[in-house]
Amino acid sequence: MSDLRTIYVGMAGCGTVGCAVGDLLIRDHDALLARTGLDIRLVRAVVRDLGRSRAPHVPDELLTDDLSRLTGDDVDIVVEVIGGTSVAKGVVLAAIAAGKDVVTANKALLALHGPEIYAAARAAGVCVAFEASCAAGLPVIGAIQRGMVANRINAIEGILNGTCNYILSEMLEAGKCFADALADAQRLGYAEADPTLDIDGTDTAHKLAILATLAFGTYVEFAGIAVEGIERISLTDLLAGRELGLTCKLLAVGWMIDGVLLLRVRPVFLADTHPMAGVNGADNAVSLYGHAAGHVMLTGPGAGGASTASGIVSDVVEVALGNARRTFGQLPLFEPKMVKSATVVPPAAPDCGFYARFTVHDRPTALPKITAAFGEAGIKLVKVRSFDGDPPTATDGEHIVLLTNPASESKMPAVLKRIDGCVELTDAPICIPVLEPFERRS
Ligand code: HSE
Repeated sequence: MSDLRTIYVGMAGCGTVGCAVGDLLIRDHDALLARTGLDIRLVRAVVRDLGRSRAPHVPDELLTDDLSRLTGDDVDIVVEVIGGTSVAKGVVLAAIAAGKDVVTANKALLALHGPEIYAAARAAGVCVAFEASCAAGLPVIGAIQRGMVANRINAIEGILNGTCNYILSEMLEAGKCFADALADAQRLGYAEADPTLDIDGTDTAHKLAILATLAFGTYVEFAGIAVEGIERISLTDLLAGRELGLTCKLLAVGWMIDGVLLLRVRPVFLADTHPMAGVNGADNAVSLYGHAAGHVMLTGPGAGGASTASGIVSDVVEVALGNARRTFGQLPLFEPKMVKSATVVPPAAPDCGFYARFTVHDRPTALPKITAAFGEAGIKLVKVRSFDGDPPTATDGEHIVLLTNPASESKMPAVLKRIDGCVELTDAPICIPVLEPFERRS
């Protein structure tokens, strides 16, 4: 580094997150200096469109469109906030090749190209720090790598996408339709450039791949994670769930069960008493189950410029103090010998209860056929309700919602198929697991 106490930061990208990083590094410069003893200076931000001013967050004179200006001697740390995997990958590898430590919030890049990037950093003797890649400002990576390093982690569970959590909360609490809630999440700077990645669960799975690799010490391939998004969750399901004492969340789970790792992202219902049921808006939550520390849960804003910048600047400080290189170098997590794929999604996931909704033309005729189909599969129903939905419309049909006792998920497709064969459904049935917290399952 050019000076022990003065650290020069170059930034690639300057959108919502980059501007927030600028705010923290420039406006809070003196407070950071007082807190850390480091004189951290943002010296450059490389942007595609020089015509768009980023003031007051980042002064115009720091902007350039020349990527090569990140790899000169006047930059110590490169912060990558471009997002995506094409340009960003080249920028990160070029920075590493030039001997720069890298700080990135880019979960897609690390989930898809992590081993190549970590190997390049190791070979170059630099580090990659990525606290803000998962759950933005929640210090979850620090918790796994440092705070809970004494633990064998048995499970991770998380609400890891602020956009989805915001949409589900706003639909229920503010009565917004899905499209309006998504548009607000975009306006507020929570969503990805392509919000499909939020909605279809991909972004959550990127984060789960990173967290599970760290927590379980085994390389988790993104492609091995079973992913389902929130596209099919309707206000009717959210309202029916509320009547049943349940809240819908897009949940990432990583459970180590009998030495096999189950990794999955999907919408689930949580009982209102579940510790994550009250995590609303763009907040995230991460539960870590350590054999010594027990259940540790972090919660707070999980998307948006300020929260993500908080995680990024904490990494800049860790890198500048020399801690990040030590952590990155000492932990064997990304050494080739650790790069083995975990067995994901065991043949039999643990039994759990299920919420199901059937939308039918004629409830009195449909109801006995539906309950019989569950009965024949040996699945007990604990609640069965008629539900009018929102708004109740004749064309949509009438809803029957039910809750099952814990049952094997493997039985569900056959039950739904049987019902589809004997009941006139006006919409594809919905079936959502009802999850207990991990410690109550094991
Ligand atoms: N689009 C992401 C989210 C941003 O909504 O959580 C933070 O990673």
